[in-house]
Amino acid sequence: MITPNLIEAKKRSQRKSIVKDAEYKITNELKQLGKGKTYFIKTYGCQMNEHDGENIKAILEDLSFKEVDNYEKADLILLNTCSIRENAHNKAFGMLGRLKHLKQTNENLIIGLCGCMAQEEVVVQEIMDKYKFVDLVFGTHNIHHLPQILNEAIKKKELEVEVMSIEGDIIENLPVKRDSKYKAWINIMYGCDKFCTYCIVPYTRGKQRSRKNVHILKEVEDLIKQGYKEVTLLGQNVNAYGKDLDEDYRMENLLEDVAKTKIPRIRFVTSHPWDFTDQMINVIKKYDNIMPYIHLPLQSGSNRILKLMGRRYTKEEYLTLFNKIKEAIPNVSITTDIIVGFPNETEEDFLQTLDVVNKCQFDSAFTFIFSKRVGTPAAKMKDNVSMDEKNQRLQKLNEVVNHYARVANEKYLGRIVPVLIEGYSKKEDDMLMGYTDTMKLVNVKGDSKYIGQIVQVKIEDIKTWSMDGSIVN
Ligand code: SAH
Ligand code: SF4
Ligand code: F3S
Repeated sequence: MITPNLIEAKKRSQRKSIVKDAEYKITNELKQLGKGKTYFIKTYGCQMNEHDGENIKAILEDLSFKEVDNYEKADLILLNTCSIRENAHNKAFGMLGRLKHLKQTNENLIIGLCGCMAQEEVVVQEIMDKYKFVDLVFGTHNIHHLPQILNEAIKKKELEVEVMSIEGDIIENLPVKRDSKYKAWINIMYGCDKFCTYCIVPYTRGKQRSRKNVHILKEVEDLIKQGYKEVTLLGQNVNAYGKDLDEDYRMENLLEDVAKTKIPRIRFVTSHPWDFTDQMINVIKKYDNIMPYIHLPLQSGSNRILKLMGRRYTKEEYLTLFNKIKEAIPNVSITTDIIVGFPNETEEDFLQTLDVVNKCQFDSAFTFIFSKRVGTPAAKMKDNVSMDEKNQRLQKLNEVVNHYARVANEKYLGRIVPVLIEGYSKKEDDMLMGYTDTMKLVNVKGDSKYIGQIVQVKIEDIKTWSMDGSIVN
């Protein structure tokens, strides 16, 4: 049993991360482990967690498990969890609660928990104390070892925990079963060293480790051969890509090299304002296949709160960068993340946030109420703002954010825009769906033969969070 340790998770050393390209190994015997058995995996977190889920699925299929979409029919259920806020945490525990009775009717059922919550000491303790029916817990640094962990759990019939709290290395040989045939996630870096005071990610994901450009470019080339139309380069701070490598090769160089592969669409998330360089802006502007869409988290518009958050930029610096991007890249859409109710946030601080929202008029924003994460510095800060007040601020902020989202969408009415058709619309029968270059969701009238293609769509109707249109190819 290897359980998580917060003190270890916090440590950062000068040691360079090691690229391991043979770390994931399975014996012929293990290849039969899931023969005749099914699995169900539920992912709660960000794109990185989704992508981990795609790796985990491929590993389980290497072990001969078959995927099912109803957890009640599965022999193995994995919850791929997220720690970012209390409600993500509660959702996973709620699901565990519902799984308990399944275990009572099927004693061969295996239940596991992985993802960021597995990296938290308090979570693993709670599972050991109160959720004794769980069979395995493995961390974000232990995914490549899943075959062995699962094998132990099945053999021993008691809780198997393997969660390493390490800075982490780079495992290059994990298999992947992608959810889409047209767009793919590509990790360009792991971990985070920014340690924003409210955030748990640097503890659950380890230190910043950039993948080598040759590995990333090879992955893009392979995806092109398989017919993929879009890649999203993933990292908690993609702009800091390369800072931990020996060679002088940064995000702007990587973006340019990925653009030269001629993959039709390139996206990247998330951009921390701190490392956004002019060179990056120039490269985005220069290449048509780098999409004019940037997610640029603001978090707060108050300099006092930004400082307490450890974000290392001011309101003025954010606005300067925002305007520079808007001026340089025609048609760019910029979205953001905002937290309200950080400890001791005053009405004046909140008005500063609204001021930035009014100035930037974001295309859209994810808004959150500050959530205490055990082990982070902000969790220890005294807070004099009531939950009622925080809720009111969130509501007020959402009204303003929604207004500008609609205003941004209205500019599209009557225009013809490129959309990558991904499949059928979830909401409306007989409609297709896809995203514009600027990441606007469009429900599209048209022939299903266009699924997987980038087509021209005329926008005919506007809603706050989506648009309707018809293919005009
Ligand atoms: N690496 C990204 C953010 C990843 S987490 C960045 O720095 O921009 C996604 C979003 O969750 C954050 O941008 C933040 O707005 C929100 N978030 C993170 N920790 C939070 C917390 N403790 N409470 C509320 N929201 C939080
Ligand atoms: Fe969290 Fe800050 Fe790192 Fe983003 S940059 S993952 S908010 S610590
Ligand atoms: Fe959640 Fe972990 Fe992502 S905490 S947001 S799943 S990095």
